[in-house]
Amino acid sequence: MNFSTKQYFKKAEEGNYAIGQFNCSSADQVKAVILVAQKLNAPVIVGTSEGESKFMGLRQAVKLVESYQEETGLPIILNADHTYKDAKDIQNLDKIKALLDAGYNSIHFDGSVLPYQENVKWTSEVVKMCKEKNPDISVEGELGFLPGASKVSKEKLEFKEEYFTDPEKALEFVKVTGVDRLAVSVGNSHGISADEPKLDFDRIAKINEKVRDYAVLVLHGGSGIPDEDIKKAILLGIRKINVNTELRAAFTIALKDYFIKNPEETTPYKYLQASIDAMQKVVENKIIVFGSGGKAGSSF
Ligand code: G3H
Ligand code: ZN
Repeated sequence: MNFSTKQYFKKAEEGNYAIGQFNCSSADQVKAVILVAQKLNAPVIVGTSEGESKFMGLRQAVKLVESYQEETGLPIILNADHTYKDAKDIQNLDKIKALLDAGYNSIHFDGSVLPYQENVKWTSEVVKMCKEKNPDISVEGELGFLPGASKVSKEKLEFKEEYFTDPEKALEFVKVTGVDRLAVSVGNSHGISADEPKLDFDRIAKINEKVRDYAVLVLHGGSGIPDEDIKKAILLGIRKINVNTELRAAFTIALKDYFIKNPEETTPYKYLQASIDAMQKVVENKIIVFGSGGKAGSSF
């Protein structure tokens, strides 16, 4: 998948919009994302977490996305999301090697659970390894901790002051590691929980002011944040937004509804269509809110 992923984010910076990363567990979900991207002529990122890519297969995910790219002409990024999420016991970078060999054109290394210096060390190594293999690859690092997980829960999440990304540290982190993108903790969380997320807009602005010459900002936990808050965050410099839980929920609820109405159905292409349609609605609304519709362009 050889096109400049950097150009993709540079355009988002110039145009003041954010590119959506939509997490997918299956080919059906990838199809839903691409259909909307095509309809709205939007740049999109297909995200696969470690669990999602394990289920799909690394090479299979790459080939699937490549085939859509060839067919649609859209610049579709395939991002390995939260690689080494449990980085506490990290020994080597075998997982990164496997992703690069398979052909992923974007990697998110998540060293957020590591002590700062360890995070810097491993993230720098990942950047070096990725750029040696493919200078056009886009690498995301993470600084600050996000509570929660990509599911719907009634729990209340705890936000400790130490979770939040410090603007000064963020500057040092991007300068030393050389990441293209920085995932930040600014009141966002993974999943949909009891309380609505409250973004720290002031912090987003301060971090962006510091790092904008080096890296673009990424907002994880895009589910459940009010549209108006998302728009404000984009105005303050967020250029990539990750969405998973809302997609999972839409897909699954539609499937459950389908079987309540059609308990005898056994043909996958029939019962999966409702899920694909439901997921498309969520993706479409997100792309409109992110302002990335019509931005796929023809220059890739
Ligand atoms: O990396 C994936 C995202 O941060 C997903 O977050 O499940 O809250 O949408 P979400
Ligand atoms: Zn995330």
